[in-house]
Amino acid sequence: MNDIIRQLADKRQAACLGGGQERIEGQHAKGKLTARERIELLLDTGSFEEWDMFKEHRCADFGMSQKQIPGDGVVIGYGTINGRLMFVYSQDFTVFGGSLSEAHAQKICKLMDHAIKVGAPIIGINDSGGARIQEGVDSLGGYAEIFQRNMLASGVIPQISLIMGPCAGGAVYSPALTDFIFMVKDSSYMFVTGPEVVKSVTHEDVSAEDLGGAVTHTSTSGVADLAFENDVEALMVIRRFLGFLPASNRVKPPTWPAQDPAERLDFSLDTLVPDNPNKAYDIKELILKIVDDGDFFELQPDFARNIVIGFGRMDGSPVGFVASQPLVMAGCLDIKSSTKAARFVRFCDAFGIPVVTFVDVPGFMPGTAQEFGGIIKHGAKLLYAYAECTVPKVTIITRKAYGGAYDVMASKHLRGDVNFAWPTAEIAVMGPKGAVEIIFREEKNDPDKLAQREVEYKKKFATPFVAGARGFIDDVIMPHETRKRICRSLAMLADKQLENPWRKHGNIPL
Ligand code: HXC
Repeated sequence: MNDIIRQLADKRQAACLGGGQERIEGQHAKGKLTARERIELLLDTGSFEEWDMFKEHRCADFGMSQKQIPGDGVVIGYGTINGRLMFVYSQDFTVFGGSLSEAHAQKICKLMDHAIKVGAPIIGINDSGGARIQEGVDSLGGYAEIFQRNMLASGVIPQISLIMGPCAGGAVYSPALTDFIFMVKDSSYMFVTGPEVVKSVTHEDVSAEDLGGAVTHTSTSGVADLAFENDVEALMVIRRFLGFLPASNRVKPPTWPAQDPAERLDFSLDTLVPDNPNKAYDIKELILKIVDDGDFFELQPDFARNIVIGFGRMDGSPVGFVASQPLVMAGCLDIKSSTKAARFVRFCDAFGIPVVTFVDVPGFMPGTAQEFGGIIKHGAKLLYAYAECTVPKVTIITRKAYGGAYDVMASKHLRGDVNFAWPTAEIAVMGPKGAVEIIFREEKNDPDKLAQREVEYKKKFATPFVAGARGFIDDVIMPHETRKRICRSLAMLADKQLENPWRKHGNIPL
């Protein structure tokens, strides 16, 4: 018996060493943790239950039958984060460069199947040289099996991808199918084709970091949500992030006992919007002042900065915030910001997280770049997302809500449940200047008269009261009571029920 137990202990120890001490040191020398160290930091201490530690590949080509490493380059299992069940896989770069074999893919698929069945988030830690070259099509098939499950899990359980090393070629498409992608600066990259292929095809000289590093994907492409300085920071922040998400679409998001009074007033908000309508202010100041304990988890802060998205809690319950940012491009909606916000609204809707929207939008961004880039289709994504969204929707217009952007941003007409406006709100087809220049075109040579018309128009239409008179705005509220009014609205909406008509699926303008 003792022998058997010793054999098991030896086998476990060998499996835990992955590709061996030398390669582990190589991993550390690159500033990266190993697959197991990452899981240890991510999950609650001692909570990890590992599966398939002894699984091996079945490839006999290229001398692979002599190269068997138990676990075959990926560590899978489940554990808890702050006591909540999570499924995790972590690719081990020390074993064949973390490359994906048939066996490696089978392990990930087994985990995904369980996560979907049980209803708990899955976190994938990616650090891989891609398809196991020695296995050929078996490896490609393995990827497709994962992609299929990514789709099946979409909207059922939260799927989080952490990119902590190479992720290239078709391998990028599994993370791309998940809900959120987090990267580590200087040690992770994602691209469909690497710098050498780029050079030979397009003759561009670009480094791996510039082509697909964390900064590129969080600021230029918008593929990733956040970039971290190192593995430890990434893993710690992900622990916090998961606290905002429900385990699945079958359960409500996790609530926390709120220390921050729901009825708290903040009088500094009364002067947040400047008197001059052309002056900017920081919408994040508003979010930070109304959210529980000033705790706002922003996503994609460096991409499409004209719109702000992220999670916070209101009276202890998670909420998704979407807010126009007047500091950047006056908060205009454009291609990138529409896509960014649309995807976020759809995530919240899929997982029962209420959406709170702050509106200060002068309209859609004009210009050939936007029109040729398809702003019509991309803007429609946001419109579609808000229109199909059935979770509680609370909207606050702080200043401008002009034209189509008024409609799009969770207006009453798109089934906004509670629509408030601050007294500074201007709800109109367009800004007063543009409006009078069109209506009173014949007076264009009389600037004084036009200025007078502008004042009249502003007084009459650029206020929240016309929309209020129609019932499109439920109330004009004092800025200092914004938190209180949102908390009351969300409490009233807690058991909201609303369903869209049955269909196989809608056809969002992709
Ligand atoms: C098998 C691989 C491998 C792979 C790396 N290794 N990638 N083994 N299949 N895809 C092995 C190496 O042989 C080496 O083994 C060990 O992993 C570490 O690799 P190094 O090259 O020493 O590491 P590094 O210098 O850090 O470079 C990492 C790398 C490079 C940039 C990822 O290894 C690389 O370019 N690999 C090939 C990438 C690739 O072309 N993959 C296929 C992409 S196509 P030893 O024994 O020496 O430690 C694809 C299609 C997916 O993935 C399609 C899905 C639809």
